[in-house]
Amino acid sequence: MATEGESVMSAAHCIERAVVTGAAGFIGSHVVEALLQRGATVLGIDRRSPRDNALAAENLKGVMEHPGFRLVQGDLVTDELKPWVRAADAVFHLAAIPGVRPSWGDGFGEYLACNVLATQRLMDACQSSGVRRLVLASSSSVYGDAVGRGPLREEDATAPLSPYGVTKLAAERLALAYALAPASPTSVVALRYFTVYGPRQRPDMAIGRMLRGILTGEPLQLYGDGHQRRDFTFVTDAVAATVAAATADATAEAVNVGGGDSVSVLDVLRRIADITGAKVPVRDDIHQPGDVQVTEANLTKARELLGYVPSITLTEGIERQWKWLSARSRGPLHDAAAVTA
Ligand code: NAD
Ligand code: UGA
Repeated sequence: MATEGESVMSAAHCIERAVVTGAAGFIGSHVVEALLQRGATVLGIDRRSPRDNALAAENLKGVMEHPGFRLVQGDLVTDELKPWVRAADAVFHLAAIPGVRPSWGDGFGEYLACNVLATQRLMDACQSSGVRRLVLASSSSVYGDAVGRGPLREEDATAPLSPYGVTKLAAERLALAYALAPASPTSVVALRYFTVYGPRQRPDMAIGRMLRGILTGEPLQLYGDGHQRRDFTFVTDAVAATVAAATADATAEAVNVGGGDSVSVLDVLRRIADITGAKVPVRDDIHQPGDVQVTEANLTKARELLGYVPSITLTEGIERQWKWLSARSRGPLHDAAAVTA
């Protein structure tokens, strides 16, 4: 992308009516903003609403009064979806239960329902309503571990190592299967996001927890030895790829969306110390099951199909998240317990 947001602008010009599922979430709320800024009307669908959920209120406070935006509080697992998607030029499917580590054990039923069944129901509704494009939030977790085999290309083997990753791969394959069905009106671009960060990041995620640790003194529980690496992606870059995917020339494609550099958790802690002038308090904890050692994206296909080149370096992105977070007083974004779906 030549400049930040430039391709968002040209792609969004072709979308007049968009539906965004998971609109009250971290990435979904940024997608809503980007589409509205470019003149689209947006119907957001989310189980959470600013009326009853503090995180949703924080995430959507910039758009609730926008004349082009309407939020419906609904559940993709149980509600009738056709009336919501019928008029859409494009559906952006961001809704899911997103955490890697809590996906073991009893909570898995929610992952299965909200990530897999919800995607199947949404694809069914899109197909029977003649929606032309669905953009799906997939995940780097579909690959499993990239250690010794990265940067990973989309055709490389998928071998998720967490129950969450299994549900994201199932959702991706489901959406692509619908797109490939004979005479399907709905094409699909599944974006494999790599660890997205930035303003409004989910409170359970690493960079937000580190920055909050500086403000509150609450130590980060460092899982494992900190040498695990992530291809951290700034949220405006992820959004630019997402909006571009709505008009890309594609029938059924999976595409990596990474930040362009695979960096260790210890390196992130060092950068935060440099940026803030303070050390993140840390408490050692054990490696978490399902946490891969390395994620690393090959971005060739993203560049070719979406014109995507990440434009925000990790240091610049952390600076922006720090500026945003430190301007806020204590609230839901300072409270990891508030992350329930
Ligand atoms: P988030 O939790 O902030 O947003 C997800 C939203 O989906 C929430 O507001 C939640 O209420 C909603 N939702 C969940 N189940 C629903 C249902 N059944 N019906 C209606 N709404 C429902 O998560 P996020 O970090 O913004 O992630 C967005 C998407 O991107 C998810 O699909 C996630 O798997 C994917 N993803 C995120 C990252 C990341 O680093 N944040 C990386 C890879 C993939
Ligand atoms: C993130 C998102 O949370 C998932 O929704 C998404 O699917 C995934 O990226 C992806 O790329 O597909 P994760 O990489 O675990 O998952 O993101 P963080 O929670 O920011 O964790 C990054 C690293 O920091 C991990 O190695 C984790 O073990 C570590 N970490 C995280 C800690 O050491 N302590 C914490 O409190 C949180």
